[in-house]
Amino acid sequence: MTASASMEKLNRALRQNSLVRIIEQFGREHPEAHLKDLVVDASGPGRRIVVNGRELIHFGSDSFLGLDQDPRVQEAIRRGIEKWGTHNGASRAFASVRANIEAEEKLADWLGVESVLILPSVMLTNLGAIPGLAARQDAIALDEQAHSSMQEAAKIACQNGAKVATFAHSDPAALEKTLRSLRPYRSAIVCIDGVYSMSGRIPPMADLDAVARAADAVLYIDDAHGTGVLGPQGQGTVLQALGNYENAFVIGSLSKAFSCAGGFIGGPASFHRLLKIRCNPYIFGGPVVPPYLEAIGVVIEILRSEEYPRLRARLDAAIRRLTSGLADLGLVVMGAVTPIVSVLIGDEAETLRAGKYLFDRGYYIQSVLFPAVPYHAGVLRIQCNANHRESEVEGLIEAFAELSRSMKLPRPGRGGAR
Ligand SMILES: Cc1ncc(COP(=O)(O)O)c(C=O)c1O
Repeated sequence: MTASASMEKLNRALRQNSLVRIIEQFGREHPEAHLKDLVVDASGPGRRIVVNGRELIHFGSDSFLGLDQDPRVQEAIRRGIEKWGTHNGASRAFASVRANIEAEEKLADWLGVESVLILPSVMLTNLGAIPGLAARQDAIALDEQAHSSMQEAAKIACQNGAKVATFAHSDPAALEKTLRSLRPYRSAIVCIDGVYSMSGRIPPMADLDAVARAADAVLYIDDAHGTGVLGPQGQGTVLQALGNYENAFVIGSLSKAFSCAGGFIGGPASFHRLLKIRCNPYIFGGPVVPPYLEAIGVVIEILRSEEYPRLRARLDAAIRRLTSGLADLGLVVMGAVTPIVSVLIGDEAETLRAGKYLFDRGYYIQSVLFPAVPYHAGVLRIQCNANHRESEVEGLIEAFAELSRSMKLPRPGRGGAR
C-alpha cells in the first residue's frame, strides 16, 4: 500500500522531533537492540526471560514481590475465567460485575480508606480523576517531576478551564508559592507521586500536606510504585507519612506489586459516586477484566499475612546488596529505600549504550530517557524483586563493574548526584 502524500508529510514532521532522532539513530547503530519493541519470548522460572533465543535476568519487572509467579494468584485468575468468562461486556457506567465491587471493598478495608474506585490502569485513573476533580474555577499544582499521566491529565483539566502550575520537585516552600500564585480558586489539588518512579525517591508528604491544608488544597498522591510493597501490609507510602487520609486521595496500582491488572483511586465515601459521574474513562472505556479482579482478594490476604514480612525481607536484602555494591563502584545511585534503584548515566545515547552493554552480559535493565527524566539525566533503572536470587544480584553488580571500567560514568559529588 502506498501512503498518501499527507500521510508522508505527517511522517516527515514526526521525524524532526529530537527524541525520535536520537532513538532512530541508536536503532540504526544497534539494530539488534530492539529499542521500543523488545519481545520477550518466555518468562520464568523466577526472573529469567528469553529474548531472541538468549536467556537474561529481568531487572525491569514491577512485580516487586514476585507474585506474578505465585500459584495462588495464577489459580485465582483461572477461577475468575471459569466464573465470569473473559470480559464483562460493557462500560461500568452500565453495570459492574460483583467481583469488581468485592475487590473495591477489600481494597478499601486493607488500605483504611472509606472507598475505592477501580479503573483499568493508573494512567486512566489519573486521566479521569484529575480533570474530574478540578475544572473551571479550580486549580492544580503539580510537582515538576509528577508522573507523565498526571501531567497529561492536568493538560485536559487546563483545557476545561482549571488553572495549572508546577512547583519545584518535592519542595514545600515552592508549593506554597505556587498555590499563592494560583489564587483565587474555588478548590485546589496538589499532584505528587508517592514514590518517584524513575529515582525511587519518596517526597516529604507531611510537609507538603501542611502547606496544602493551609492553602485549602487537597493532596492527590499517585502511589503506583508504593502499592502492595511499601509500608505496613504493603499499604503504600501515604498512610505511613500522613497518619490518615483526611486530606488526600491515594492512587494505587494493581498491575505492579499486586501482579493483577488495573489502577484505583481511594478516598472519602462522599467522592465515590461523584467520581463515577465525573471520571470519563470510567464512563467511556471498559473496565479491568473480571478474572484479574478475582485475584485482588488473594493478594490482599498475602499482604495481610505473616508472609508479607518474609517477602519484604527477601526484597530488602536484594535492595541493600545491590545499592551497596553499586555505591562501592563509585556510581551515582538514587533511591534505594524502595525496590527502584537508579544509576545516573546522563547523556541520552550513553544511557542507551550502557543499557545495551548490560543486556549483552545477560541483564535486562531499563534505559530511561527524557521526558521520563530531565533532559541529559538519563538513568539505568533497576527494579529489585523478592524472587531475584543472590547470585543474580551479584552477577548484575559484576556487570556494572565491567561497565564502569569500559565507560566513563558520573561520580557522586561532581554535579552528578541529584
Ligand atoms: C507513578 C506512576 N503512575 C502511573 C503509572 C502508569 O501505570 P499504569 O501502567 O497502571 O497505567 C506508572 C507506571 O509506571 C507510574 O510509575
